[in-house]
Amino acid sequence: MEKLNSKVKVAVFISGRGSNLKNLIKHSKLKKSKYLINLVISNKSEAKGLLYAKKNNIKNFSIEKKTLIFEKKALKILKKFKIDILCLAGFMRILSAEFIRKTKIPIINIHPSLLPKLKGLNTHERAIKAKYKYSGCTVHYVNSKLDSGKIILRKKVKILKKDTKYTLAKKILKLEHIAYPEALKKII
Ligand code: GRF
Repeated sequence: MEKLNSKVKVAVFISGRGSNLKNLIKHSKLKKSKYLINLVISNKSEAKGLLYAKKNNIKNFSIEKKTLIFEKKALKILKKFKIDILCLAGFMRILSAEFIRKTKIPIINIHPSLLPKLKGLNTHERAIKAKYKYSGCTVHYVNSKLDSGKIILRKKVKILKKDTKYTLAKKILKLEHIAYPEALKKII
């Protein structure tokens, strides 16, 4: 996807805290970065992550609408900004097959488990309950099935006896902040 004279344009969809967004913005500012975060869209107007977009003068929109309308509006904006890659980062909604087809750009997501294990929510609690020795995070392409697209990369961490869902979440979030920029670099 490398472009000759310009950087790859990335949009990020969020719903909440936005620590992955913040981290991607930080990485995009490195001199060697091949991408720019050009656009942020949230489906929640109170998402803290929107503040990182504002602080960094990145165009941002909150579209608090049901999926069909959300997707219609978001698609228009993605096209308007000529976005090359869409990153989902804590975006709590499943995109429709039609949206995925119509965007015609790669869509990737970060998930807090070693996929295909532990799709869906509450992954840390479930990893501990299942007595897994390891958990981690996965960056994957998005298709219309939940957490099921082709895997780009995974990073794993040991689950210690003393780990709770909170300590594990903290460890894995740190890994996520390494994995997402690395995955983007890998596919560009
Ligand atoms: C992350 O754990 C990510 O893996 C999951 O949602 C969380 C989002 O965190 N999909 P943040 O909003 O990026 O801080």
